[in-house]
Amino acid sequence: MKQIIIVGGGRFGLEAATYLHDLARSGVELEVSGVIDDSSPDVSDFPGGVQKIGDLTSWDPRDFDHIIAIGDAHARWKVAALLGARSARFFSLIHPSAYIADTAEIGLGAMVCPLSFVGPHARVGPHAVINVQASLGHDARLGTAAVLSPGAKVSGRGEIGEGAFLGSLALMTPGAKLGAFSKMAAGAVWSGVAPEGSLVAGNPGKSRIMFRVPTTATLPQ
Ligand SMILES: CC(C)(COP(=O)(O)OP(=O)(O)OC[C@H]1O[C@@H](n2cnc3c(N)ncnc32)[C@H](O)[C@@H]1OP(=O)(O)O)[C@@H](O)C(=O)NCCC(=O)NCCS
Repeated sequence: MKQIIIVGGGRFGLEAATYLHDLARSGVELEVSGVIDDSSPDVSDFPGGVQKIGDLTSWDPRDFDHIIAIGDAHARWKVAALLGARSARFFSLIHPSAYIADTAEIGLGAMVCPLSFVGPHARVGPHAVINVQASLGHDARLGTAAVLSPGAKVSGRGEIGEGAFLGSLALMTPGAKLGAFSKMAAGAVWSGVAPEGSLVAGNPGKSRIMFRVPTTATLPQ
């Protein structure tokens, strides 16, 4: 039986707990051992009476599988690096209602939410998120800890760098590229190539360099 730790006790943590509960009900042998969070979130409505059992700062992750339930891509990336450096194991949470093509690859620690789509030969990086009703088209690449918010669409051959974030209903047209640690505003439409640290907003989207890109070592893809 896998013992899963949810990293982050906010409302994305509640969603992760709910999807894990769904997986357990569908016959996957797992149980949620608890939540870790540096603040004191109210987890009283998490399914299965899950409790906060520790702080991220002092957590020894070695006996557990972890799923990071943090919606901010850059913060996910940092927490993945922190736990990875402490030899954490990670769990890939794939909701039973998601469509995943046989030829797609899902990285360790990724979260693939209900009713989402991952097309043929698409690659979802470690710790990346495909939120509800988001889609990653054929041959597209989603970098480590990158986040597709609800309803975001990445068309075929799209490329999204590590730590990048697409807001709800953002759309990348076929072959568009978004550099690492960039952000796309909710509802933006992007057809170009945006370098690292870009903000893309509007339809048609316009890009400008806006965000700091970490200088620390890149996490493995
Ligand atoms: C694009 C987005 C991610 C930027 O958020 P942020 O990182 O907090 O950035 P800030 O709000 O600090 O804004 C940074 C800059 O971007 C600009 N900006 C932000 N959103 C913009 C938009 N939609 N259009 C144009 N400019 C925008 C701000 O004006 C600011 O510019 P300035 O520094 O020149 O004043 C945010 O506006 C957004 O669309 N979020 C989507 C949220 C979402 O869908 N969440 C899903 C939850 S499940």
